[in-house]
Amino acid sequence: MISTTNHYTFGETDTAAQRLALLASAYQPATQAFLEEWGPSEPEHAIDLGCGPGYTTRLLHRMLRPRWTTGVDASPRFLQDAQRASEEDIGFVCHDVTQEPFPTAPADVLFCRFLLTHLPRSGHGFARMGSGRPTGRAPLGARNGLAAC
Ligand SMILES: C[S@@+](CC[C@H](N)C(=O)[O-])C[C@H]1O[C@@H](n2cnc3c(N)ncnc32)[C@H](O)[C@@H]1O
Repeated sequence: MISTTNHYTFGETDTAAQRLALLASAYQPATQAFLEEWGPSEPEHAIDLGCGPGYTTRLLHRMLRPRWTTGVDASPRFLQDAQRASEEDIGFVCHDVTQEPFPTAPADVLFCRFLLTHLPRSGHGFARMGSGRPTGRAPLGARNGLAAC
């Protein structure tokens, strides 16, 4: 269940999951192009914030080829779907991304698609999330609901 302080507008129902599947197929080409343009290749660790059922997490992993990738989402239901469909070097963590402490190892790449509009304050805490690595990047770009740091 998503907390009431950070309520995800579309919920976690089967209909919401189907909507995310449609969204994923419609936006795959744009997301792929964005990652080609902005994504560093072969980082150590990439994080997909607000990963939902893992479509973006798997795409991020496939495109950037990090050693490992972590998807973070506040919905246990979407994370269950994500885990089922993903390979071994992709992990998932249930967490509200606006809350500290952040529960993963520091990342070289932070990515999100269609998350920021669902947060009470856009970008809340992102700087701190990515700050643990010497190779951490400054924000690179945001377009059509996509953001990478
Ligand atoms: C529109 S979906 C996008 C899912 C995925 N990024 C994609 O593009 O397929 C937004 C996701 O953000 C998650 N979410 C919303 N608020 C959140 C928060 N505060 N912390 C973590 N996840 C959150 C929702 O559970 C949902 O899975």
